[in-house]
Amino acid sequence: MGDISKPVRRFDAPEKIMGTARYVDDYFEEEMLFVRIVRSTRPRARIKSIKLPKLPSGYCVVDKNDVPGENRIKMIFDDWPFFAEDVVNFYGEPILAIAGPDREKVYELSNAVKIEYEDIPPIYTIEESEENKRPPIFGENNLFADYFYEKGDPDGAFRDADQIVEEEFRTGFQEHIYLEPQGMIAKYEDGRITVFGSMQCPYYVKNALIKAFGFPEDRIRVVQTTTGGGFGGKEEYPSQIAGIAAFCAYKTGKTVKLVYDRAEDVEFTTKRHPSRIRIKGAIKDKRVVGIEVDIALNAGAYAGLSSVVLQRAMFAATGAYRIDNVRVLGKAFATNIVPLGAFRGFGAPQAIFAIETFMNHVAKKMGEDPVRFKLAHRYKKGDTTATGGLLRSEVRLPEITEKIIEMSEYYEKKKQKEKDGKLYGIGFSMFLHGCGFTGNGEEVLKSIARLKKRKDDKVEILISNVEMGQGPQTTLRKVVAQVLGIPMEDVIYENPDTDKVPDSGPTVASRTAMIVGGLLYRVAKELKEKWKEGEEVVVEKQYRHPEYIKWDQSTFKGDAYPEYSWGANVIEVEVDPLTYEIEVKKAYAVFDLGTPLDKKIIEGQIHGGMLQGIGYATLEVMEFENGRFKQRTITDYIIPTAMDAPLFETDLVVEPYKNGPFGAKCAGELTLVGAAPAVCAAVEDALGINLYEIPIRPEKLLVLMNKEDN
Ligand code: MOS
Repeated sequence: MGDISKPVRRFDAPEKIMGTARYVDDYFEEEMLFVRIVRSTRPRARIKSIKLPKLPSGYCVVDKNDVPGENRIKMIFDDWPFFAEDVVNFYGEPILAIAGPDREKVYELSNAVKIEYEDIPPIYTIEESEENKRPPIFGENNLFADYFYEKGDPDGAFRDADQIVEEEFRTGFQEHIYLEPQGMIAKYEDGRITVFGSMQCPYYVKNALIKAFGFPEDRIRVVQTTTGGGFGGKEEYPSQIAGIAAFCAYKTGKTVKLVYDRAEDVEFTTKRHPSRIRIKGAIKDKRVVGIEVDIALNAGAYAGLSSVVLQRAMFAATGAYRIDNVRVLGKAFATNIVPLGAFRGFGAPQAIFAIETFMNHVAKKMGEDPVRFKLAHRYKKGDTTATGGLLRSEVRLPEITEKIIEMSEYYEKKKQKEKDGKLYGIGFSMFLHGCGFTGNGEEVLKSIARLKKRKDDKVEILISNVEMGQGPQTTLRKVVAQVLGIPMEDVIYENPDTDKVPDSGPTVASRTAMIVGGLLYRVAKELKEKWKEGEEVVVEKQYRHPEYIKWDQSTFKGDAYPEYSWGANVIEVEVDPLTYEIEVKKAYAVFDLGTPLDKKIIEGQIHGGMLQGIGYATLEVMEFENGRFKQRTITDYIIPTAMDAPLFETDLVVEPYKNGPFGAKCAGELTLVGAAPAVCAAVEDALGINLYEIPIRPEKLLVLMNKEDN
């Protein structure tokens, strides 16, 4: 690890620690209006009538009739309206908004709106959507996406198998709980709409507003404000808020603020898709030689990004394993739930939980040690992936595994069954993550990054990617400064403003360091050659995948990703033998994420990502009942705090990617995907049973263990 990996002080640390960073809700103006959304109180209904309270002067109502362009949020399919039209499809769907100068009064007025509904039978679960016995929500069969791909001869593998193992896995909702709830401020001045706010993807918001207003692009400006966490939650959803705030600004001519309170954010913004994953494995000579994975996602009321989330899940279906005969099926089901969306890992956490747990179960069935069993199936350099892509780099899973086994004393601890009166267990997971956009995403995007060397010899990074806590303010500055041989302090990187920065793509898919950072690295190389002291020099480049990357989006064949990061996790748990409460005591991780651009930032990503994965596996419960979530605040939606954090021990193995800056690959999502299956394996080890579902809750374990006893 070269100089680039050496930790430096984060550029965003002082203002965040001192409390001087300005988040969207920290901006106030005289004459500013506040907005409250009036939402559906039915999961599915036709709107019969709306009765408004008498509005004092200075207050106004904004609804579907105030959308100047199309009342549709631009995403993949354009089915999701800013404001409901005649039908509502989930509890909490925006119907109208009230804007006015006094926040309390706006709340009071919005509570006084009376809406009459005619209910339509709702659909909540994957099974209800699949049965299709109620009026469909989308198309004829409730499917936002229905995909399939194959490799080799899966039917032949099942025919010749010694044994066939079939299992079904379930994963639950997960809510992002970023520190800062979502919010936007909008203005309409001189014929232009400007929106400021908390977001990952300024150009997604800009493009959504272009469609919503029908304005030419030079009449829309989007500026990111300091963003307190995103985790995917601020990938697609901010367009919804930006639109409503902007319609209010357009109608009133005033500056308008729309900031969600925590309860609104928990209940009505996107979450991770619950899944049902069925795996059927063909076993021959104690090895999985064929596999069929059938992935069903509960996608909620509108399509959003569900089709792409499903694709990432499907391409991760065989995990880190080479299986030559593969069939993967995927469906995203429409239901009357808030649209489910992007969340760190983007479909991979569900798939990796399922395949890892499946491999553990098959290993046990074969009487083999899961670690050795997995190593026997692992991908190697030169193998083709499930989609038939080529693994061109060294896959250093043996070294990763060796390190983590030694570091965690896995085999010694595996013998242990009890500790301090608790049931003790240890679990292992092995996994990969595809770096950057899935499939043809990067090719469609054609990201542009620009560097501007000013007359004062300082250099501005001009990209649309954002700092949301993951560190690019620091890491990308380091990359540019090192290539140019100038101090980091001479590199300027401000929160993106679409008036100033080109579209370097969204801040998602663990693509910022590797894809955008790699592009900036090449721009900086060229700038170095063109450098003229005291003069302005601007260099920009457009991203293209390396020539050798081949992908067919219609058949899902080829290189689903240009490169992969790899990892292994070991987790130790103690389970209370009476209450079955789970305590995650220690978490070990060894990752190959290429060259770390800053070891401390990577350490932060590892702790945060793994803890989020541990929460996903154990604590984070969101139950849907009678059309509403039961958990609506952070009092009842529990995430791990510092007190729940295990001790972490981490190490890195570095297989550099030649197109990543200094060899960097992807990191942000990789750190989450392996935690849940390792926790599950540890709890299984402690209790001596097989589990099929996360979150793993004590009350469910109690029922399971009582059954086992009988
Ligand atoms: Mo993400 S889950 O690709 O913001």
